[in-house]
Amino acid sequence: MRILVVGKGGREHALVKALAESPSQPELFCFPGSDAIFETAKSVEADGLESLVAWMTANSIDLCVAGEESYLVKGDGLANLCEKNNIPCWGPPKESAQLEASKEFAKDFLVRNHIPTPRATATENLAEALAAISGKFPTVLKFDGLAAGKGVAVCVDESSSLDFLNEVFTHRRFGPGRVLVEQCLTGPEVSIFAAIVDDQYLIFTPARDYKRANDGDLGSNTGGMGAVASRRLISPEMLDQIEKEIVRPTVSGLRSEGLAYRGFLYFGIMLTPTGPQVIEYNCRFGDPECQAVMPLLAGDLAEFCFAGAKGDLRNDLIQFSDGWSVCVILASAGYPETSRNGDKISGLEKIHGARIYHSGTRRSATGEWETNGGRVLAVVAGGPTRAEAVIHAHEAADSISFEGLQRRRDIGILNF
Ligand code: AMP
Ligand code: GLY
Repeated sequence: MRILVVGKGGREHALVKALAESPSQPELFCFPGSDAIFETAKSVEADGLESLVAWMTANSIDLCVAGEESYLVKGDGLANLCEKNNIPCWGPPKESAQLEASKEFAKDFLVRNHIPTPRATATENLAEALAAISGKFPTVLKFDGLAAGKGVAVCVDESSSLDFLNEVFTHRRFGPGRVLVEQCLTGPEVSIFAAIVDDQYLIFTPARDYKRANDGDLGSNTGGMGAVASRRLISPEMLDQIEKEIVRPTVSGLRSEGLAYRGFLYFGIMLTPTGPQVIEYNCRFGDPECQAVMPLLAGDLAEFCFAGAKGDLRNDLIQFSDGWSVCVILASAGYPETSRNGDKISGLEKIHGARIYHSGTRRSATGEWETNGGRVLAVVAGGPTRAEAVIHAHEAADSISFEGLQRRRDIGILNF
């Protein structure tokens, strides 16, 4: 089987590695990929979606796996183009990917399908947004479109909400678009991933992402400074409730509204005192949750995605380990506001018993690994208990260094 994975980050590195370990031994390709990914998957020359799909046809690709969301909604949509060309695709068509690309579309879908979610009002301009906030803080402001993880602000007072609203409406930082003013919820967050194939689904190992930059869950929001994953992260009763009140109605809502779906769907959920509520959908796996979850998976992910993309959910093809997995992100100087490229990474050869996934690295002219982005590496280790996974992951992370390295020391430990 020949599989092409679309994306370039740590999540795609983890997906490519998991596909490569599949007993069916697929031949792997990646676009746009990264130097680290190209050690496992071959690089593809394409300069856009159309040419990528033409390349897939010309090169007899059996399956396209969408890692990154942006391709799903670009142009005609990756999955739509694959379908036109009879290439099975693990990832939804453009119409369904609006669940991630438009917060307003997602909110309307949630409300129509009676899925618990915080109340929200869509606003067109500063005056409307301020009227919807009506002096009540904290409040949550969400830009309606894709904003590379920067489109949400939890505002504690009027001045921080004005800063965000001016960025959106005055400076148009994310381009044109509306803002949802959303009720602020409290409680721990959990990321639930389901592989959806039409009217069927399989829930993967639950994970938790550590979004803030600093220990104690303080500081700026980031793309994720680490993750912990385990079947035991939440109680079986809570997982049942999430399945009954959130996952199942989502899958039946997609069916009844004619929204085709074959691929991973990520439910960002807040466990509030009155029950779990959906704060976002993403039409892909999480990053860095994917790096924590993939090592817990056994079986044949390649065959699983291939069968799924053709309409057959084959639960028998994969199993989930009962253990724990902890992923520590090493970020470059300046992250998340900026990032620094070109810092030489040392210590990678000292890693044993942990996995390293590359999020933002490149080979220097002399062939050494160096930083190339905000999040640089994910160091992942597992264990039968949470404590063991935490110790292994942090010990392994201690072996790696580069100038300006930033990381959290409480990943996996802090149980917020
Ligand atoms: P999102 O991109 O929608 O997941 O939002 C990013 C982060 O903002 C979430 O992971 C939460 O930490 C926070 N957030 C989003 N919506 C809410 C909400 N309604 N109440 C409180 N925090 C929220
Ligand atoms: N871990 C957050 C995300 O993938 O959006």
